[in-house]
Amino acid sequence: MNLIEGFMKKFEDHKFKINQLPRMLFILSQQKLIETLEKHRELELRNIKMCEAKEKEMKSLGAQIMFYQIRMDSIKHAYILKTLKDILQAESPDILWNYLADKYIGQVASKKELEIHAELEKEMIHAHEELLKKIDNTGLKVILQTIVEDEKRHHKMIMHMINNLLALDP
Ligand SMILES: [Fe+2]
Ligand SMILES: [Fe+2]
Repeated sequence: MNLIEGFMKKFEDHKFKINQLPRMLFILSQQKLIETLEKHRELELRNIKMCEAKEKEMKSLGAQIMFYQIRMDSIKHAYILKTLKDILQAESPDILWNYLADKYIGQVASKKELEIHAELEKEMIHAHEELLKKIDNTGLKVILQTIVEDEKRHHKMIMHMINNLLALDP
C-alpha cells in the first residue's frame, strides 16, 4: 500500500465511522436495553394492579370483562418482557428463536402442527364472525369483536412462524 492508498483507506475508514455514528447513537447498549425492558415490565405490573381494582369496583359486567382482558394482556406482556430480559442476560444472548433445533429436530412435525393450529384459529374467527351477524346486543358485540381481533392476531402470528421462522432453506 503506497502513501496515497494508505491515506485513501484512512479516509474511507473515517467516512465509514462517520456514517455509522448517527445509527450507533440510537442503538441501546445491552445493559440499557435490559433496564428499559424492566421499566416496561414495571408499567405492565402497575397496570395489572389497576385493572384488578377496576374489575372489583365496576358494577357493569361488560366493563369487568374489558378490564379482565386488559389485565390478561398485561400479564402476558409482563411475562414476555421478563423472558426477553432473561434471554439478554443469559450467556449467549443471540438465541431468541431456537431456529436450529426447530430446523433439524422437529421442524416438519412442528410445521404441520402449526398449520393445524392456524386452521383452528381461522375456524374460531369464522365462528365468532358468524355469530356477530346474528346478534344485535351492542355490549355483546363489542366484547365478541375483541375476541375476533385476538384470533386474527393469533392467526397472523402462526402464519408468520410458518412462513418465516420455520422456513426450510432451499
Ligand atoms: Fe401492555
Ligand atoms: Fe386464538
